[in-house]
Amino acid sequence: TGQELRDLLLSRIIDVPDYPKPGVMFKDITPLLADATAFGALTEAFAELCERFQADKVVGLEARGFILAAPVAVRAGRGFVPVRKAGKLPGATLAQAYELEYGTAEIEIHADALQPGDRVLVIDDVLATGGTAEASLKLIRRAGAQVAGVAMLMELGFLPGRERLEAVLEGAPLEVL
Ligand code: PRP
Repeated sequence: TGQELRDLLLSRIIDVPDYPKPGVMFKDITPLLADATAFGALTEAFAELCERFQADKVVGLEARGFILAAPVAVRAGRGFVPVRKAGKLPGATLAQAYELEYGTAEIEIHADALQPGDRVLVIDDVLATGGTAEASLKLIRRAGAQVAGVAMLMELGFLPGRERLEAVLEGAPLEVL
């Protein structure tokens, strides 16, 4: 069941207080990745979303989103497209800046990675403030593609990330396991 999957996955995520900065609760997913059963079950659940949302591309958000999204793309038989921190992609890119707690950040996608009409499933590990996910949706739409859905492993419920993301979903489904 969904609850059993959730319990399995959450049992393999470690809360690390005050990392990387005081006051921040870091979610360490490396035990989940090291557990073939848990990682496999997560991959399977996300791959099913490709079918349900009729996505034909999988976008992963750097860096932990890459680890989660790549096996989903292979399992579902869809192509994988990375959204990277600025300055890492060699080709022509679209860039999107977004607000951090202090300052701004920028992410990029290859300008020709998505075609008009493509339906994209966006995958990342954590929804915190929602800034990264919101910026990635903007990039996907600017590339001419459609957001088929967003899938996250977990959300930090004490941050208003879900509201911020829901405001820009334009009807696309948000699935947090
Ligand atoms: C973390 C996490 C998400 C993002 C969520 O990545 O993996 O991508 O932050 O935060 P937000 O909802 O407030 O935008 P991080 O920036 O630490 O990058 P990394 O995965 O490369 O370490």
